[in-house]
Amino acid sequence: MNQTEDDPDHPADATRAPGTTTRAGSPVGSAEANLEPVVAHTRAELSTARAELGDGGVGVVMTMGALHEGHATLIRQARAHARHVIVTVFLNPLQFGPREDLARYPRTHEADLEICRREGVELVFMPTPSVVYPHGDPGVRVSAGPLGNVLEGQARPGHFDGVLTVVGKLLHLTRADRAYFGQKDAQQLLLIRRMARDLDFPVDVVAVPTHREADGLAMSSRNMYLGEYDRETALCLSRALQAGAAAAVEGPSAVRRAARAVLVREPLALIDYLVLVDPSTLEDVPEWYRGEALLAVAGRVGTTRLIDNIPVNVGPGGGALEVFSEDAGRGHDSNDLTSPPS
Ligand code: PAJ
Repeated sequence: MNQTEDDPDHPADATRAPGTTTRAGSPVGSAEANLEPVVAHTRAELSTARAELGDGGVGVVMTMGALHEGHATLIRQARAHARHVIVTVFLNPLQFGPREDLARYPRTHEADLEICRREGVELVFMPTPSVVYPHGDPGVRVSAGPLGNVLEGQARPGHFDGVLTVVGKLLHLTRADRAYFGQKDAQQLLLIRRMARDLDFPVDVVAVPTHREADGLAMSSRNMYLGEYDRETALCLSRALQAGAAAAVEGPSAVRRAARAVLVREPLALIDYLVLVDPSTLEDVPEWYRGEALLAVAGRVGTTRLIDNIPVNVGPGGGALEVFSEDAGRGHDSNDLTSPPS
């Protein structure tokens, strides 16, 4: 990953797309937010608008819409490091199971555009499923492999194949040099990194820390489903993670114990899993493990399935981390602390 490549010579917005007819009224090269973004609905519109951005330094933030401050932090990060920013808003049917919430997923296109405008996004790609999948459901898809079958993948069979397929397509369509993804969806982030690595996608995948409400609830488009009472219940997830992180210095079983102790006090949250895993293999870390680990939780509150996680540093100096270092976990580690005792 190379986040600094364009920064010194090209601070964000220094070379904005010239004001085209679709950015009516915007002065050429103008840097302020609140400019009208170009909105592309078709492949042809995207291709034309993308060509205007030129080569190099293009960042993409992919979303399913219902934008919130978590998405906005991704956009800000992209704007700080990329020369041009594209946001995609596409509710991808391929990643939803037949009994999942595709039909009720919030669709808020006007408000999404308002956030893009406020954040100074230049190009928004808002396609329909028939634009993204003109030949119907694709027979050829990206397989997430074994890491796609555990945790979220176990609860949502085929989900990550659907995610990776659309992410791959959107990377091709936007020709982005960098793509920004939230730590909030840790398994998704890991799998997108693996796809880029294993299939040689020419893109830098950048992780952005989870953005939370003041009381700790991780921001999510699905929080819109929560009534006042459910929202209070949902807080046990982030509280459990905090409690786990606070025990990190004592080792893995202390982390799991502390987090579980919070969850058992909230019987209205139906917990699917609470795990402390190696961030590169998603396997439970053994008791001797020291170093970066992923404490992740998923559960149902009312009719809403919620996930949250916190990267923790297990062992001396332990505690919460914002994101993982790129070589975190046993899969990549040369660090003695994460090898079994001899
Ligand atoms: P969506 O859930 O809309 O999330 C879009 C991006 O925003 C993802 O990278 C997600 O991790 C990030 N994000 C969501 N909530 C966040 C928060 N509280 N803090 C920081 N980042 C947050 O994830 C998807 O859409 C889709 O699977 C997608 C990658 C777009 C493919 O369809």
